[in-house]
Amino acid sequence: MKRTKIKEVIQEGEKLLGKEINIKGWVRTRRSSKNVSFINLNDGSIIYNLQIVADNQNFDDEMLQKINTGASLSVNGTLVESKGSKQNYEIEANDIEIMGEADPEKYPLQPKKHSYEFLREIAHLRFRTNTFGAVNRIRHNMIFAVHQFFHNKGFFNIHTPIITGSDAEGAGEMFRVTTLDLKNPPKDENGEIDFSEDFFGKPTNLTVSGQLEAELAALALSEVYTFGPTFRAENSNTKRHLAEFWMIEPEMAFYDINDNMDLAEEMLRYIVKFALDNCRDDLEFLSKQRQEEDRQKPANEREPMELIEKLNFVLENKFERITYTEAFEILKNSKPNKKKKFAFPMDEWGADLQSEHERFLVEKHFKKPVMVTDYPRDIKAFYMKQNDDGKTVRGLDVLFPSIGEIIGGSQREEDFDKLYSRVKELQIPEKDLWWFLDTRRFGSVVHSGYGLGFERMMLFITGMSNIRDVIPFPRTPQNAAF
Ligand code: 4AD
Ligand code: MG
Repeated sequence: MKRTKIKEVIQEGEKLLGKEINIKGWVRTRRSSKNVSFINLNDGSIIYNLQIVADNQNFDDEMLQKINTGASLSVNGTLVESKGSKQNYEIEANDIEIMGEADPEKYPLQPKKHSYEFLREIAHLRFRTNTFGAVNRIRHNMIFAVHQFFHNKGFFNIHTPIITGSDAEGAGEMFRVTTLDLKNPPKDENGEIDFSEDFFGKPTNLTVSGQLEAELAALALSEVYTFGPTFRAENSNTKRHLAEFWMIEPEMAFYDINDNMDLAEEMLRYIVKFALDNCRDDLEFLSKQRQEEDRQKPANEREPMELIEKLNFVLENKFERITYTEAFEILKNSKPNKKKKFAFPMDEWGADLQSEHERFLVEKHFKKPVMVTDYPRDIKAFYMKQNDDGKTVRGLDVLFPSIGEIIGGSQREEDFDKLYSRVKELQIPEKDLWWFLDTRRFGSVVHSGYGLGFERMMLFITGMSNIRDVIPFPRTPQNAAF
């Protein structure tokens, strides 16, 4: 018999009532009385389980005893209206086949609440929990929403390289890619490692951003975006940093900084609305769970808004737009700064905004998402458009509640001479960047772009608090398990 997904049963059960169907999935719980066994089966297609009712006398007792949490079953049975109050439908089992047993003494997932820390240690099995089922179904929908948003607007998706010879952000936090023998690398006359003998004939690394290559494409196809894995070897063990994360990077010819902000705001709203429209069951589950977890926390650490309310809030409120200098003034004169509550005091123009400052602006001061532009040039990357004041660049950060920076971007410097002098000033080797500079030599135009950290977006949408829990297999310092 062809398998019916549990999602179809839950959503369109009416048309299947009284029919015999086949269901496959993994046992969440089994409860047996003298005469009947109740089995809750989940196949991952939807957050809900389907209840299987087995009349004990029709089945082998030894077989029934093996239906433990984690075992996989194939069940043929009749769909009927449920006598219980918890669900609309249930299956009266005719045939039960155990496809794979799960020894209850050894299976680490039990039908109780496990800590997120413990679940990270068994990330190969955590997909089978309600939480990670929900997170990963939402993750898929968010990927789809991103592609749909850009496709509908006529953007083209460009695959940019994962192995590169350049450092787009100039922060130098890169993973080296090499096939050289680390125990005995070839040396040149000066005793330095001779990368001409390496696989690519030069030093290469995993990319920190697809932007530079996306710019090349934008200066021909007008509007493009990348959506790929990016890698950063920064040793930051925080709830918001991964060593391997996914980034969405649109790049648009003929867009200035204001067009860039309009696009970022429209995109974020589109993605949030897509989640509300298409992931309702999973969001409601996560919301309820978050409220339960919140009750265990001290009052000052609780979430100010329920999850779905928070998502709606972003849809309904226009983002605040301010300059770095305005942000600096607000922070400098803020209560926490005057009372020396910030770990990084905000007293001197030019200091970078730390996440404590970003969250103050969003959560305490404006109480909505904030877009900050025109940052001091010394704290931003070489490619950002220089303002006439000689001090600031047309950078853009989008700041979100409980996350801080979710997007980083800018209008790009399109003037060859200005870009070139910045490259020289920062001593970026020209041989690594000649192709990027070429676009400013031939038919250069005003253009802009930004990068959205996909997992930061996932944190916002799901309300999860640790970035390790919104990507299936997190890579962080000292951890590349699975
Ligand atoms: O601000 P960033 O470094 O900007 C760029 O890489 C630009 N080249 C983007 C562009 O203009 N095309 O990174 C962009 C975003 C951040 O705002 C953040 O959301 C995310 O990427 N991000 C990280 N997410 C998880 N873990 C990390 N270690 C991250 N570093 C940055
Ligand atoms: Mg940034």
